[in-house]
Order: sequence, then C-alpha cells, then structure tokens
Amino acid sequence: MAVNTADAVQQRSRERRKSLLPLLKKVQETEGYLSRETIRHISRTLRVSENEIYGVASFYPQFRFQPPGRYHIQVCLGTACHVGGAPNFMEAMKIERGLGHGQTTPDRRFSLEGVGCLGCCAISPVVVVNGEVYGRMNRVTFMRLVESLESPEKPS
Ligand code: FES
Repeated sequence: MAVNTADAVQQRSRERRKSLLPLLKKVQETEGYLSRETIRHISRTLRVSENEIYGVASFYPQFRFQPPGRYHIQVCLGTACHVGGAPNFMEAMKIERGLGHGQTTPDRRFSLEGVGCLGCCAISPVVVVNGEVYGRMNRVTFMRLVESLESPEKPS
C-alpha cells in the first residue's frame, strides 16, 4: 500500500514538472522574463520548489530572469554568424558596456541575448534589435548601431 501511495505521489510530481515548461514559456512570452514573484507563484500553484523551477528554467537559455531592456539585442550565434564574427559583438558588449548574455543594463536601456540561427544566414552575421533585422554586420557597424540607440534623440 505504501508503495502505491509513493508511486502516486511520484506520478503527480512528474505531471506537475511536465506542465512546468509550457507554463514558463507562456510567462516568458507574455511578460518577457521570469520574475521572482512569478516563480514564487508558480511554485505555490504547482507545488514544485522554487529551486526546481530555477533549475529547469536556467537549463534553457531562452529564459530570462531580468526584464528585457528597451532595446533587446539578439546576436545570432549560429554557425554562419559565428564564422562571420558574431562572437565579437558579444565580446564588444561585454568589454565596452559591461553587458553579457541574458543581462540588462542598470538603466534598462539594453538587454543582450546570444541566440541560435535566426534563419537568415545569407546576410550573416545577423543582429536583431526589437525584432528588426540587421545583416552583414561587423564589430564596427554593430557598435555604431548600439551607439545610435544611445543617442539623446532616442529617449530612454
Ligand atoms: S547562423 Fe545566423 S542567421 Fe543563420
């Protein structure tokens, strides 16, 4: 009897974890990130520990734990863009703006994300800012783009 009860508890636990991923994806889509409050709420609702939720979410690079910046910069790190020098863009943001993958600047102007192939390899290396695609980028044009987004004409 005790075995059956343990099996049932494990089964319920598996089902709760199974529903976790689609739920996290939905929250990420609608809110742009997974806030502490949201994770706490999901934890209570599904009766899954917050640690477990963080464990699952941090395994997938698409999940963010900070709100996106006003300008969300996605650098394609797929093969064609990688070969074309896209990792230099990430490095430039780290060195020149102190911003790494999954981070947002303190003023919330920029957030940075390295992503997989965006499906436009013919114009690689590719960067996307708030859904707008910029192709055939190099480190100089990339940083010019970032600087243009910092200009005073663009209110934060
Ligand atoms: S590898 Fe970057 S768009 Fe395909």
